Amino acid sequence: METLKRTKIVDALKCTDFGSTINVKGWVRTRRGNKNVSFIALNDGSTINNIQIVIDNEKFGEEFLKPITTGASLSVNGILVESQGKGQTCEIQATEIEIFGTADPNTYPLQKKGHTLEFLREIAHLRPRTNTFGAILRIRHNMAFAIHKYFNDRGYFYLHTPLITASDAEGAGAMFQVTTLDVENPPRNEEGKIDYTQDFFGKSANLTVSGQLEGELGAMALGSIYTFGPTFRAENSNTPRHLAEFWMIEPEIAFFDIQDNMDLAEDFLKYLIQYALDNCQDDLEFLSSMYDKELIERLKFVVENDFVRLPYTEGVEILKASGEKFEFPVDWGTDLQSEHERYLVEKHFKKPVILTDYPKDIKAFYMKQNEDGKTVRAMDVLFPKIGEIIGGSQREENYDKLVARVEELEIPMKDLWWYLDTRRFGTAPHSGFGLGFERLLLFVTGMGNIRDVIPFPRTPKNCEF
Ligand code: 4AD
Ligand code: MG
Repeated sequence: METLKRTKIVDALKCTDFGSTINVKGWVRTRRGNKNVSFIALNDGSTINNIQIVIDNEKFGEEFLKPITTGASLSVNGILVESQGKGQTCEIQATEIEIFGTADPNTYPLQKKGHTLEFLREIAHLRPRTNTFGAILRIRHNMAFAIHKYFNDRGYFYLHTPLITASDAEGAGAMFQVTTLDVENPPRNEEGKIDYTQDFFGKSANLTVSGQLEGELGAMALGSIYTFGPTFRAENSNTPRHLAEFWMIEPEIAFFDIQDNMDLAEDFLKYLIQYALDNCQDDLEFLSSMYDKELIERLKFVVENDFVRLPYTEGVEILKASGEKFEFPVDWGTDLQSEHERYLVEKHFKKPVILTDYPKDIKAFYMKQNEDGKTVRAMDVLFPKIGEIIGGSQREENYDKLVARVEELEIPMKDLWWYLDTRRFGTAPHSGFGLGFERLLLFVTGMGNIRDVIPFPRTPKNCEF
């Protein structure tokens, strides 16, 4: 077979150099045809669209063509011609074909179309080959890129915060322990407790639940930073919105108050959604047609409308006056459940909502205390279909107030001395937030389950791939 430089299918489909010979490589999505001619829909992952390969059966012979079934991998040389068929600009008349790998139709799980999302989760090693997961993974990439672009264009620095941490201070959720001790027979001290001085780090360590505390150290030096990495929470929450391993984006900005923080969160989310509308059109249209007819309208709606901003206390009053029957009762002081958040967003305001000034007892120790002594300068961004997509706050920059809160909550000071140092040396007002990357993707793709917007989901009792 003549060696030609490979053209990606996304580029081949735009090519108008009819009559030229090109090479494409990819996987067979479908093969149909008749006695004389075969049509292969070839996909290489570069786009949701397939290129049609037209094969003269007689030229290649039945024996040769037989193993070209759904899932097989091919290299095709052929002449680019203007397409006669509807919905495609060009196709390739094959002159030479090499079969890289076959996929036995009797055992290949994706031989047939129309599998349920539940089934596809069981074959997470193969599901990227479906149109749905190809679209989701391309959108995921584009959103990751847009996040870096957004911050880079605005002078934020990407800070790599550690995944292994010795402090459990954030209190954002149960942690996964990291140890090299023999778990079946760990060393013990005189009191019979596990002797972590013999562990790898000389103390007990965990996977991080958030990069925020280290992010604050960066903000106090570089001014504006963001983190973007995996975080781990060992809660046993089997919901369509929780993962045990998820990615989070955490900007942290010196000299920002909560208003600045809300402005940033709103602008950031709108930018990302507009970026998807501008750059992921084919994939969004596919997902919309398959799963969610209102998807594109909903995305545009969020970009075009101001988010509502209101204090938690007013939000709770609206919920109590709503007459809705909630599964979880709501009263001042209770943490809002997703059903409450979605009521405010979907039924009451019909817009994204930023709730602020939550009771201090349901929020983290580091949030800036309000003068009322009851609430803190927290802000959660609530989205249609998702509920909480962002959680953040202005931070308590006053050393004495922060220490008082740490003591009140009995957080071990020995874990936090380095964090408290930011308030001892050159403290400054600052704020930040965390955006759950998969929650963003749920919204942008319109998918209903967070397990379907990450390549290899980690949830309770699920760590196969
Ligand atoms: O509200 P959270 O717990 O906030 C923090 O971790 C702060 N340190 C953020 C900050 O101020 N820098 O988490 C932030 C976001 C949530 O709003 C949600 O979108 C997402 O992370 N999130 C999860 N996503 C998937 N699975 C889980 N188990 C999640 N828990 C939180
Ligand atoms: Mg939160």
